[in-house]
Amino acid sequence: MEWVRFAKEAVIPEGSARIKFFGGSPIMVLRSGGKLYAYIALCSHKYYVLCERSVKDDKIVCPGHGEIFIASTGEPTQGKARSGLVRLDLEVRDGYVYVKLPSRDIVESIASESLVEGQA
Ligand code: FES
Repeated sequence: MEWVRFAKEAVIPEGSARIKFFGGSPIMVLRSGGKLYAYIALCSHKYYVLCERSVKDDKIVCPGHGEIFIASTGEPTQGKARSGLVRLDLEVRDGYVYVKLPSRDIVESIASESLVEGQA
């Protein structure tokens, strides 16, 4: 698993998020409560891609069916998703955020579940 330079830390102010794609995988970095968190930006309900505007205060609201995840843990709160968001390791070095990309197995497993369940 590879570390990638995601963005300058300063471009992710409190209560906001950035999403970038690496190898086809959407990766989200957000700041909540003064701390940075990184997730695979796929909802664990029906695998809609989360967006930067999904982050509100200390919550991540899925644009698909409204599941609300706790920003600091990725845990769902509404009962639609059966599991939390996949959290990724993150480091800040020299003013830049670095994220450890997920393994191919994890991304392929999520992709295959989304094909089975669809996005309806
Ligand atoms: S896909 Fe996110 S709540 Fe359904």
